[in-house]
Amino acid sequence: MPGFASTKEKKFCTSMPMPQPRGPSGSGSPDALDPKLATRSARRQASMKEMRATLDELGQGHLFAQWSEGGGSDAKANEARFFEQMVALDASYPGGLKAYVANARQLLAESKSGVNPLEGWTPKVPTGTSLRFASTEYLEHEQVGVQELDGCSFVLVAGGLGERLGFSGIKVALPYQISTGDCYLQLYIGSILALQRRAAEATGKPVQLPLAIMLSEDTFALTEELLKANGYFGMLESQVTLLKQEKVPCLGDNDARLSPDPDDPYRLLTKPHGHGDVHFLLHSTGTLERWQGAGVRWVYFFQDTNAPCFKVLPACLAVSKKLAMEVNSVCVARRAGESIGGIMQLDKGDESMTVNVEYNQIDALLKATVEPKGDVDGPDGYSPWPGSINQLLFALAPYAAKLKQTGGGMPEFVNPKYTDGTKSAFKAPTRLECMMQDYPKSLGPEAVVGFSSVSDAVSFSPVKTNLKDARTKPKGMPTYSAASGEADIYLSNCEMLTAAGVKLPAFKETTRGGVTVMDCPRVVIDPSFGVTVADWKAKLPEPSAVQLAPGSTLVLRGDLSGLTIESLALSGTLVVDLAPGAVVTLKSVKERNAGWAFKDLAEGEEVPEPLAIRGYTL
Ligand code: UTP
Repeated sequence: MPGFASTKEKKFCTSMPMPQPRGPSGSGSPDALDPKLATRSARRQASMKEMRATLDELGQGHLFAQWSEGGGSDAKANEARFFEQMVALDASYPGGLKAYVANARQLLAESKSGVNPLEGWTPKVPTGTSLRFASTEYLEHEQVGVQELDGCSFVLVAGGLGERLGFSGIKVALPYQISTGDCYLQLYIGSILALQRRAAEATGKPVQLPLAIMLSEDTFALTEELLKANGYFGMLESQVTLLKQEKVPCLGDNDARLSPDPDDPYRLLTKPHGHGDVHFLLHSTGTLERWQGAGVRWVYFFQDTNAPCFKVLPACLAVSKKLAMEVNSVCVARRAGESIGGIMQLDKGDESMTVNVEYNQIDALLKATVEPKGDVDGPDGYSPWPGSINQLLFALAPYAAKLKQTGGGMPEFVNPKYTDGTKSAFKAPTRLECMMQDYPKSLGPEAVVGFSSVSDAVSFSPVKTNLKDARTKPKGMPTYSAASGEADIYLSNCEMLTAAGVKLPAFKETTRGGVTVMDCPRVVIDPSFGVTVADWKAKLPEPSAVQLAPGSTLVLRGDLSGLTIESLALSGTLVVDLAPGAVVTLKSVKERNAGWAFKDLAEGEEVPEPLAIRGYTL
């Protein structure tokens, strides 16, 4: 079973106070300047002086130690550049650099002394619903959820560096499979447009579902370019809001000394602050308020490379609605020991919160509290703790109200990699981070925070791991590689066909690019085919008359809203590409040809990067 956000070990931190709303702090603020300083340059000098004093006060004098002596014009320009960056960093963190350094010192000290933030908390399975994919209960939930689609909005967090994957472009531009080569962003927007069309059908009204994308300096320009070059993949430009997160300074040691760039002493190293920034940005840009005014009721958060992320949304919407959930963590059924976090309600005295507990902390927490055997499966073969994949469904009204109150700051954590057991030095500079799933920590015990979990289906298969690491993952462990992401979207579509009644050949294990994956008919179906199992059933009125031989590729693309498949026998490859508005029935279609096959790349073979990171081609 695949897993997500918690594939990186992160520290659970409850001790950090919520940062205050962002804005310029005292240091470097123009308001703090003496109004009598007449000229701009004099003001700049004063501002620089003040910032320098602040940095000295914060124990950051090392930053100036490597500056060249003397006052040449280069040095002056470099100094101005340095202070410009400082002022920007100061203004983009709640409470400014003073607060950043203070928070960092506290968290670094806690990390060094090995404080256990889970000490004293007792876990319990939170409010929620577990559904088996395509069961009667699941189908009923889908029908309830369809009635809520008109109130949905979507938030894609895509500001991450993707260091583990090692792809030089943006991850949303990667093909999610190479049978068509369509990219993640195209699939995501196509899926939202399909949900939009279904919402309009369900309500009988025109519907426009908004999408916000959180980006960073590393991903903004390329993502905007991709959208523009492709006409926003069919969405209206006005439906899409691009948000940009700022970075935070890197920290070089336990005293939170900021790290200069080794190649440029007039620049600080910075890194993303984490996807937790999304709450602040949605609030501070007025996006949530605007959506609320337009009648939005739900906000769905998803990440940059999980192709089947919308599959279970209608059913999970019904769970949110039925249980009146403020926050619904859309989960997968977790197996004990699996490297994904678990959603737990943690109680301590009068305090209670429902949060993600990282996978590396689950066993110890359970042993110390409610389960002497630790992280073990229950009688149904799954861990009782739903597996967190960071797909979150929020009710908009209480979310917007809470952010107005808190300003959107998130609790932070730090995760330094120490050089040795003395924990006195880091292998590489670290930084403070925050995670979007920590939002419930800002809620009181009265808030309904829970989960919806779907078993027996692929709904989570992100692409995060480079080929070399994927090849060396222990057998049976999910690889989160380009190969598994691709194989799993075929599998996910096959699951939908099976749920609609189609009998498929047995799937078997194979390797692609040296990575073990499950091979099934390679089915690529545009989201316009349908957004629920019931929609697929309606388009497959005689499922027993649909046959796909092992190794076949079926690509259905274009506008599939008018497509019906009555009978089809395929051995090889069939591509059906429909024009907008086409009404087509596939009847007595028999196609037999040599088909397409995947081929591993030879050592050193020159191919475009999206193929090189897979290790195979078509
Ligand atoms: P990951 O945990 O996969 O991080 O992010 P990453 O930065 O993409 O990859 P690595 O760790 O460097 O290998 C999960 C999701 O959160 C987004 C990512 O773009 C991805 O969709 N994210 C992460 C942000 O939007 N901002 C961040 O600061 C970090």
